[in-house]
Amino acid sequence: MRFKDAGHMALVALHVLPLAGHVYALDLNVDSQESIKDAGKTAAYNMMTWYTQNGTDNPGFISRSWWTGAALFLACLNYWHATNDTTYNEEVSIGLQHQGGADGDYMPSWAIGIGNDDQMFWGLAAITAAEYNFPNRPSGDTWLTLAEGVFNNQISPQGNGWETSICGGGLRWQKQVWQPGYTLKNAVSNGGFFMLAARLAWYTQDDVYSTWAEKVWNWSTKVDMVNTTTWAVADSVSAGTGGPDGCSLPDNSRWTYNYGTYLSGAAYMYAYTNDSKWLNITNSLMESLFTTFFLPEHGGVITDWQCENSDRCYIDANDPLFKGLTVSWLADVALIIPPLEEKILPKLQVSAQGAANSCTGGGQDLCGNRWYGGYDGQNSMENAISGSQMMSAVMLKFLGSYSKPVSTATGGNASSDPNAGTKQGSQSSESTVFPPITTADRAGAGILTVVLVAGAVGGSIFLFSDT
Ligand SMILES: *[C@@H]1O[C@H](CO)[C@@H](O)[C@H](O)[C@H]1NC(C)=O
Ligand SMILES: *[C@@H]1O[C@H](CO)[C@@H](O)[C@H](O)[C@H]1NC(C)=O
Ligand SMILES: *[C@@H]1O[C@H](CO)[C@@H](O)[C@H](O)[C@H]1NC(C)=O
Ligand SMILES: *[C@@H]1O[C@H](CO)[C@@H](O)[C@H](O)[C@H]1NC(C)=O
Ligand SMILES: *[C@@H]1O[C@H](CO)[C@@H](O)[C@H](O)[C@H]1NC(C)=O
Ligand SMILES: *[C@@H]1O[C@H](CO)[C@@H](O)[C@H](O)[C@H]1NC(C)=O
Ligand SMILES: *[C@@H]1O[C@H](CO)[C@@H](O)[C@H](O)[C@H]1NC(C)=O
Repeated sequence: MRFKDAGHMALVALHVLPLAGHVYALDLNVDSQESIKDAGKTAAYNMMTWYTQNGTDNPGFISRSWWTGAALFLACLNYWHATNDTTYNEEVSIGLQHQGGADGDYMPSWAIGIGNDDQMFWGLAAITAAEYNFPNRPSGDTWLTLAEGVFNNQISPQGNGWETSICGGGLRWQKQVWQPGYTLKNAVSNGGFFMLAARLAWYTQDDVYSTWAEKVWNWSTKVDMVNTTTWAVADSVSAGTGGPDGCSLPDNSRWTYNYGTYLSGAAYMYAYTNDSKWLNITNSLMESLFTTFFLPEHGGVITDWQCENSDRCYIDANDPLFKGLTVSWLADVALIIPPLEEKILPKLQVSAQGAANSCTGGGQDLCGNRWYGGYDGQNSMENAISGSQMMSAVMLKFLGSYSKPVSTATGGNASSDPNAGTKQGSQSSESTVFPPITTADRAGAGILTVVLVAGAVGGSIFLFSDT
């Protein structure tokens, strides 16, 4: 969900690594593995110039917005998975484990105001590492344990996730009562939790997780967050009127990743259960995603038009991450349900070509926000992450059976702790901290825009002030 950050008031490192010896090329031929590899290498390099462990003893912590670290590591895992290039693996591995925190549930003491969606993205990064057989650290929590830690926290009362006092169920957006989004149940928290539970079910072959996934699905369709007639996915519902169980009607905001979470969750449920119900849901959500966001007027390139049309995605620094996540999940869906590749691959190829044509910035093939109409000047960490995700996703054509995600049934290491994250109880909800203040850099121009998030709901009030 947009209009929020869980970060601290601080600047993300803006320096760029030395360029010596690096060859830039986003000359993409989507039918050539070597070409995609080269483009991917450049995109990953540009992305990682925004990340540095230098000057921090807190690897993986991106101060602007804590979950951006999860988005970054997801992109790194996908890059490694697509290309076999291990250049960034050590950094990823250190940061991904470290941000799990003392309880191993991605509620580290240093991240203030964590939302269920923020935490969920880290859980997705952890389960992705497990599915790709990304080497575990020599000590400390395994990737699977960390993913389970998030799941366990989000179903526990002290985790302030799932609860039934408003809207008859669903995960809250925010965990802390002082946050504006506390009374809101949003699509990405619930769709993301649905996906995490479905992936844990598929990985561990344990029905505890699939039962939860189904519960989230049932609730999401009941409150019409996902409409099983139109297959539209809304952004949120909240305490109110018009819907069931004292709930509001869903809004009309449309974002790629909201669709992507439910689509991917349904695909894993099908992969786990073999029940055609889930295949049908997967197909319906996929078609809906395609018709809603892969628009002919943009040459079929994926577009988060809700912010791209007005050229305002940078205002909430998170928005540019959405479509990168979405294309990565589409590639995953095709890997676990191979017959869907013939529908997914052409969409990814058109979007990747668009991205390559637009990632021409700064004489270094920097990616902007839009993937149609040329480089739009919006160089930022988030846009670089999505550019990298796009190049990895289009490798789908060349990812044979060797690189399929694994479950414990197919070679994943089962070492895990099903009670993960519950040992010491989770972060207190009582902490009295001021609502987060978000900083977002205005990409390209390098001007710092301070966004004061006063209200956080689509349609409610928030204030911006340029400094
Ligand atoms: C990291 O820190 C070292 C020592 O302070 C410095 O030489 C190097 O340039 C820094 N690298 C980056 C990427 O900041
Ligand atoms: C990665 O390694 C696998 C297995 O060795 C190989 O089949 C695949 O072609 C490699 N991928 C790339 C992009 O080189
Ligand atoms: C899985 O276990 C084997 C044997 O213990 C080990 O060599 C391998 O590194 C493990 N893989 C991961 C992803 O941890
Ligand atoms: C979800 O709804 C279906 C259909 O109504 C029902 O059969 C199933 O038991 C429900 N699952 C859960 C976990 O509530
Ligand atoms: C789905 O959308 C249609 C058309 O807007 C509406 O009539 C229907 O009530 C919605 N379904 C649910 C379960 O709310
Ligand atoms: C799922 O279906 C496939 C193909 O029909 C079959 O090989 C597999 O054993 C089934 N798995 C389960 C868990 O039913
Ligand atoms: C899924 O769709 C197929 C083809 O339209 C249909 O035959 C089947 O009954 C559907 N399955 C379920 C469980 O709805």
